[in-house]
Amino acid sequence: MATLDAEGMLGILDRFGSDCAAAIRCADSVAPLPMSTPVDQIVACGMGGSAMGGEILRRFSRSPTEVHRSGRLPSQTSDRTLLVAISYSGNTTETLSALEQALETQARFLCVSSGGRLAELARERGLPLVVVPSGYPPRAALPYLGLGPLAVLGRSGLVSMPERWEEVFQGIAEDGRRLGADVPTKDNSAKQIAIALNGRVPVVIGVAGTTDLAALRWKTQINENAKQPAFCSVIPELLHNEILAWDEERSRRHLCAVVLRSQDDTEADASRAAYVSRLLREKRVPVIEVDAPGTSPHERVLRLLYLGDFVSVYLALSRRVDPTPVLGIDAMKRSLGYVGRETPDVP
Ligand code: F6R
Repeated sequence: MATLDAEGMLGILDRFGSDCAAAIRCADSVAPLPMSTPVDQIVACGMGGSAMGGEILRRFSRSPTEVHRSGRLPSQTSDRTLLVAISYSGNTTETLSALEQALETQARFLCVSSGGRLAELARERGLPLVVVPSGYPPRAALPYLGLGPLAVLGRSGLVSMPERWEEVFQGIAEDGRRLGADVPTKDNSAKQIAIALNGRVPVVIGVAGTTDLAALRWKTQINENAKQPAFCSVIPELLHNEILAWDEERSRRHLCAVVLRSQDDTEADASRAAYVSRLLREKRVPVIEVDAPGTSPHERVLRLLYLGDFVSVYLALSRRVDPTPVLGIDAMKRSLGYVGRETPDVP
């Protein structure tokens, strides 16, 4: 595994818990947000791994929150909007373009980055900036991209925070010990799930408002780490369309469903999730059910994300794929001039 994982993704996963704790601390150096006018809308701008940071904000926000994955100006931006611009590299065209257009409005801002043009812009304009440590693949810096801004917004009461972070970190540390590379497959649920997924296309199913962000994270981590197709969908919406697609025998024999559940699901959604698992099993589709572990909503979200990260890396390694390089994304960024920013998204 160490030979295949040449750039050390497993080592970064080992640090997930300590990175979460460091992310909460790094928010201490950010000045409190100006709250003279109330914030009644949060827009988190970001793409790919950075947008997942915005998903964590959306999950725990107390105001309507949108994760904006586009270079266009977010709609209805006003003096009551808090725009959180998240880009690990600081050079992602869409994020910079949305922010630059929003800078012409009365919105308030928080920037999250390890450097690049976004950090420069924040310093030039005097915008609050959460500085994320450099040296990570963007998607692997999720603890900083999500919990850094969460802690800043938590100080202004804009998002809910756990009563005790220590308990959350303890649960994550336990997972680090249970799911690590040195734990054999018979005792390691992440390796077992990766083996069950090998050779099939995962369809990761989450529940709206609870496990939907984890379903998206599992999908994108499998795409980027294992470099293979994976899809995600959300209960209850899928009951109104996608369940019919599973009738088709020819495609469903290549699929494996992963159903992510949480104690935070409503009773009605829990019954819907059970219905989906039953239906797929009747159709002889392999179904893996995963219950988010933990004693608080924050712990359940983070531990479900962490498990998915391990699964995606073991899936990569079981397919003899190095999880870290994302050559296709690098080539796309060079070809579309991301660093030089030749194509801002202004109509
Ligand atoms: C790479 C990754 C990508 C990037 C995305 C946006 O590890 O996860 O999805 O996150 O290309 O780049 P940043 O995060 O630098 O704004």
